[in-house]
Amino acid sequence: MAHEMIIVLDFGGQYNQLIARRVRECGVYCEVKSYKTPIDEIKAKNPKGIIFTGGPNSVYDENSPHIGKEIFELGVPVLGICYGCQLMAYTLGGKVSSCVTSEYGKTETVYDNSSLLFKGLPEKAISWMSHTDFVSEIPEGFKVSAHTADCPVAAYENAEKKLYAVQFHPEVNHTENGCKMIDSFVKNVCGCVGDWTMGNYAKTAIEDIRNRVGDGKVLLALSGGVDSSVLAALLSKAVGNQLTCIFVDHGFMRKNEGDEVEAAFADWDINFVRVNAKERFMSKLRGVSDPETKRKTIGEEFIRVFEAEAKKIGKVDYLAQGTIYPDIIESGTGDAAVIKSHHNVGGLPDYVDFKEIIEPLRLLFKDEVRALGRELGLSDVLVNRQPFPGPGLAIRIIGEITDEKLEILQDADWIFREEIAKAGLDKSINQFFAVLTNNRSVGVMGDGRTYDYTLALRAVETTDFMTAEFSRIPYEVLAVCSSRIVNEVKSINRVVYDVTTKPPATIEWE
Ligand code: XMP
Repeated sequence: MAHEMIIVLDFGGQYNQLIARRVRECGVYCEVKSYKTPIDEIKAKNPKGIIFTGGPNSVYDENSPHIGKEIFELGVPVLGICYGCQLMAYTLGGKVSSCVTSEYGKTETVYDNSSLLFKGLPEKAISWMSHTDFVSEIPEGFKVSAHTADCPVAAYENAEKKLYAVQFHPEVNHTENGCKMIDSFVKNVCGCVGDWTMGNYAKTAIEDIRNRVGDGKVLLALSGGVDSSVLAALLSKAVGNQLTCIFVDHGFMRKNEGDEVEAAFADWDINFVRVNAKERFMSKLRGVSDPETKRKTIGEEFIRVFEAEAKKIGKVDYLAQGTIYPDIIESGTGDAAVIKSHHNVGGLPDYVDFKEIIEPLRLLFKDEVRALGRELGLSDVLVNRQPFPGPGLAIRIIGEITDEKLEILQDADWIFREEIAKAGLDKSINQFFAVLTNNRSVGVMGDGRTYDYTLALRAVETTDFMTAEFSRIPYEVLAVCSSRIVNEVKSINRVVYDVTTKPPATIEWE
């Protein structure tokens, strides 16, 4: 697919994703690449512009990420942000020094409106700063285009060479007009038109899939989650019933969810196979209470079931996967520790007889996947679905899983979801669910003593699910949930609300 493209070069900054998002919001396709990407690879991508991200280092640190001068000689516009701003100065012969007063947070900034970057914007506005080094001398041929009380070079540029740099972060919301600055860089400096729309994307993706697949057979593991559902819709538009979707229902879906997924695809011109494999999964999980063992067992069994079904179809030409962009991002930073082994359908290729993998969503962010789903006519129920872990309710039942516990959790979770929706909170809370703890406590019901389970309610607000705040659900809503759950669901006599942020807790309990 030929798109106008901007490359974000990642120097380890925490906002690299956000910068890419902002560029895409301007209607221009954008990829994040490690700063280590060879220059020939960058050239081959034919970018209309390059943006350097921030990063935690100082340019003078021995191990800090650096870049060769050639990148500035490609004739491609460059915008350096924060560390990227300092690195541009350092590489092109300017000077970077430690701040006498570090700037952190909202900072009044004075802009030179004759700069293409700040044209038409107010002369004074707030920018978001976060730095302990600053550019103390700009390289030859450049001019300063913004300053603050403590930072004499808040922005500088060489308009002729189309090299721009800002010490602050235009990508974060706290910078007033930050998005307009990025838009200006992308459109006025780089000359992009901005033709990255979901309608266009869908059209091109469908043509692309048709060309690639021809009259071949395509196989997809459908989980009912947003990504695989949108992928099914896209493939269905592209190759119709050359596509077979296998939906492995492991029995740990939320109440009625398996049927909902099946119903959602009932009218589509695809081969849809639902495998009701609850008994298989339950038998493997008997006696298992360790969270990681549960996850691994389910992951493996999933592959076995899928494999058995796929074999019935025989040789397929293409295996489709719902990999999305955040899954494949290259980053300049090191490896993260494994907190939980996520079970997705990623491990399948080794086990299924196919020729090639296709990943038509690999360029999209999550909300772009949702937008594509809407474009393709998927129902709101599917498109707006909150994230749901691959192992499902199995990791929301603490300790060993039994049929009884599964039913208790499904019923309680159903009530919680219903009440949150009734209170109109389902749009603002990013994820909410019930957890059946393994704790039992004494209660009193009517005149009798009870000794039953404690149910925990969890609701979080987050943008990236890497960090999260617990939702401030009004007490009145919690009171209704608690009262209904205790009264309507057997074997629960106590309801608690989880008020922990992530970190230190995770969103799921296992
Ligand atoms: P944690 O519990 O790690 O969860 O804070 C972060 C987000 O990831 C979801 N999650 C999973 N998603 N497969 C998935 O596709 C998994 O195995 C899995 N485990 C957790 C979780 O629901 C939350 O949105």
